[in-house]
Amino acid sequence: MESRTIYNGPYYRYDMNLLDRTIETCTSAAQKHNCRLFYAIKANNESPITTRIRKQGIGVDCVTHGEINYALRQGWNTSEIVFAGSGKTIREIDYALRNNIGVIHCECPEEFEIIQSLKTSLESDTSIALRINPDVKVDTHEKISTGEKHHKFGMSVNEAKALITNFPTEIVGLHFHVGSQITDLSYFEDLSLTVRGIIEKLPTGYELSYLNLGGGLGIDYTNPLRNSIADFEGWMRALRTYLPESVIDTIFLEPGRSIVAQCGQLVGEVQYIKHRKTNPTAILDVGMTELMRPALYEARHKVTANKDELIEQRYTISGPTCESSDTFGAGHSLPELERGDLITIHSAGAYGSSMRLNYNLRESIPSEYIESQVKTYLKRKVA
Ligand code: LLP
Repeated sequence: MESRTIYNGPYYRYDMNLLDRTIETCTSAAQKHNCRLFYAIKANNESPITTRIRKQGIGVDCVTHGEINYALRQGWNTSEIVFAGSGKTIREIDYALRNNIGVIHCECPEEFEIIQSLKTSLESDTSIALRINPDVKVDTHEKISTGEKHHKFGMSVNEAKALITNFPTEIVGLHFHVGSQITDLSYFEDLSLTVRGIIEKLPTGYELSYLNLGGGLGIDYTNPLRNSIADFEGWMRALRTYLPESVIDTIFLEPGRSIVAQCGQLVGEVQYIKHRKTNPTAILDVGMTELMRPALYEARHKVTANKDELIEQRYTISGPTCESSDTFGAGHSLPELERGDLITIHSAGAYGSSMRLNYNLRESIPSEYIESQVKTYLKRKVA
């Protein structure tokens, strides 16, 4: 069944069936490797998406007061929420503690003092874990890499050890997250080894009851249709390499992108073809305000058109805002385009709608959640 036949303007389109299959693959791998999942809601916070995730027993990783508040309204229990954030305000910490959310990930000794004293005065049940910056390099874009010394995230191993020595009973464990869009799984093996080394050197007698290794599993932006489900099994296996169940019973994880990226697409329409002779450039009615990843990280998303023609040519595909960085890049192979053609930008489910901007006072666009697996064909807008 076609869910939409007339184009009324750009929108995000979600394949809910693919989302279900992705969640199922992820939760099965988690069960096998004894991992507990907390969805990083920053990746996509649209209610129909988060509801599916929550209903499969996945907890939620929040980074602001707004995200915690939203997660509670969405129906997550307080104990199913973990709270990270590189610069939590006192108001946010107070809110999390008053709500007795499960675990708060503390990023530096000064923050620990604030959390600890507020926790005592509020008699909160929230547990405290320490986020460590392990100083490991991963292969991803510098702007989404977080685990090296020069990055702002987490505290040093020595700072964590000192806190654990002084407050062993008040710290349940450790949190790591070294970057996002990591596709070479050997980096997760490296992380496993590094973390093993760190936990072996924790003060004697300290009992680590919580270990969270963050998110970061990458997806295939080049072949999203062929590789629509990320390698959850490989990710968890890699993390377990040096951290088997004999060392740590349960590993907590915070996948974001790998759960939601591939089920979402951004659909827009060609408005004009410029520079047809020199550098054919299709200007769409969607751009960086709806998907800012290309502008921010030079991310490359697959682009297709809704017409089947054998002869293709290379196009630059750009958005409509007043920025040269508002482009999905050059060299996209597409059939000959004309005004009114519909364009699909793939892998837009993660960090698309959740990062949208209202720059140029662009209006926000709707989402469609499609249940059936039947391919939807779109007709051109009726003028
Ligand atoms: N846990 C923590 C502490 C994080 O900071 C993040 C992402 C995640 C989990 C989820 O990571 P994921 O599984 O999605 O890789 N806007 C960027 C990505 C920023 C990621 C921020 N932190 C992008 O569009 O590529």
